[in-house]
Amino acid sequence: MLDADLIKSNLKTVRIGREIIVYKSTSSTNDIAAQYAIGGEKNDGFVVLAEQQTAGRGRRAAKWLSQTGKSILCSILLRDTGISSGIIAIASAVAAAETISKCGCADSKIKWPNDIFLAGKKVAGILIDGIVRAGQKFYVIGIGINCHQTREDFNGELRDIATSIDIQIGNVCDRNKIAAELLTSLEHYLTAALDNPAGITEKWQNRNMLLGKKIAIEHKGEKFTGNCIGIEPTEGLIVQLECGNIRTFDAAFTTVLKSRE
Ligand code: BTN
Repeated sequence: MLDADLIKSNLKTVRIGREIIVYKSTSSTNDIAAQYAIGGEKNDGFVVLAEQQTAGRGRRAAKWLSQTGKSILCSILLRDTGISSGIIAIASAVAAAETISKCGCADSKIKWPNDIFLAGKKVAGILIDGIVRAGQKFYVIGIGINCHQTREDFNGELRDIATSIDIQIGNVCDRNKIAAELLTSLEHYLTAALDNPAGITEKWQNRNMLLGKKIAIEHKGEKFTGNCIGIEPTEGLIVQLECGNIRTFDAAFTTVLKSRE
């Protein structure tokens, strides 16, 4: 079971996780964290975890489904401290990818904009909400990591595209330790990004799995195919289209449908 005290005892942070709440079941941890977006510094770094979500949300209005007690479903509330939302997204993806790799998994990759992949299948997703309340800006970083799912848990179309840490390591991972590592790593990279945003971007690029691949994408309902020739983590995906034109596609309106060598 997820346990706030156990997670806290393994934290090496000053900002994130000063307060941690674990729900047995809730609608969406992002929605709960958003309710605490009041009072400036007071709730900065507040963390919400849940064993189950009844209305888990993914990017672009997708649902995020997960079986009870098998995932890390986690949201972190941050007061705006001048780091751009793009850099927050990059720091979150790098922190999640490094945390997952430390579990003994093969090296994890980041699929733009911020999905984490292991052995070619998605193991984690990140959803960042921006909130403005009483003139103060906040961000909620929502992270879902598949931990104890078995192959049977992924049925239908998920079988070929989703995986979990346990499947990859052939063992049972410790969700409390992983949650503590994730929060510690996130704080580390957010702090480092203040001094050196280029450093975190480089770490992101080193794990980027789309570069050089042929990809099919959908942008505002229109389909495109081409070669991914670059990624500007905060601007978008740079694609040389089949017609030869080069175009940048932003994360807000773009979905990668397929990628191959
Ligand atoms: C995605 O891959 O589309 C992003 C998925 C984000 C899921 C996490 S689980 C914890 C937090 N609460 C939510 O409702 N969503 C995020």
